[in-house]
Amino acid sequence: MKTLNRMTAICSRSVYLVFFLVALGACTKKDAETTPPASSDANKNEATATAGSAKGIGPVTEVKIEGLNVELATKGKAIFEAKCSACHKVEERYVGPALKDVTKRRTPEWIMNMILNPVEMTQKDPTAQELLGEFLTQMTFQNVSQDEARGMLEYFRQIDGAK
Ligand code: HEC
Repeated sequence: MKTLNRMTAICSRSVYLVFFLVALGACTKKDAETTPPASSDANKNEATATAGSAKGIGPVTEVKIEGLNVELATKGKAIFEAKCSACHKVEERYVGPALKDVTKRRTPEWIMNMILNPVEMTQKDPTAQELLGEFLTQMTFQNVSQDEARGMLEYFRQIDGAK
């Protein structure tokens, strides 16, 4: 009789253990199912988003690009060196991305919105979000005017060989 009781006790303990494991399994499985794959979500954003697309998010909706304005680029270079060089180099990665070829990978509007509105950009624009994920430092607004941002865009165009 005593052994029988012990058997029952062991059995019911095993039953609890099995229950626990099954429940644990169900929970983790559910978690995996409800978390959407990040990559496909990002792709969807890039393809369809109007808020946060090629032009980014911010005050700049249209930039007129003409032949290189050397005077404007020179002004832009000076502002860049004063306000941005703590975090950016042209040729190499630093706190932020190397800025060479930035005019080839982004639109003029996106670049200016990134300069003028970096915090909202890294929160809502899929491309800027990705950069923040990679560089893990928040770019901050450097108190530059729209004209100054336009000058830096011209400087980046000059670096990238615009004529
Ligand atoms: C505190 C450091 C810091 C300062 C100051 C800073 N940036 Fe940035 N910048 C970053 C980081 C980091 C990123 C990547 C996005 C992020 O993590 O916020 C970035 C991203 C960028 C990008 C996008 C680059 C790409 O590959 O698309 C541009 C353009 C840019 N910065 C221009 C500027 C300009 C112009 C200034 C000066 C007005 C400036 N930044 C000042 C840190 C900085």
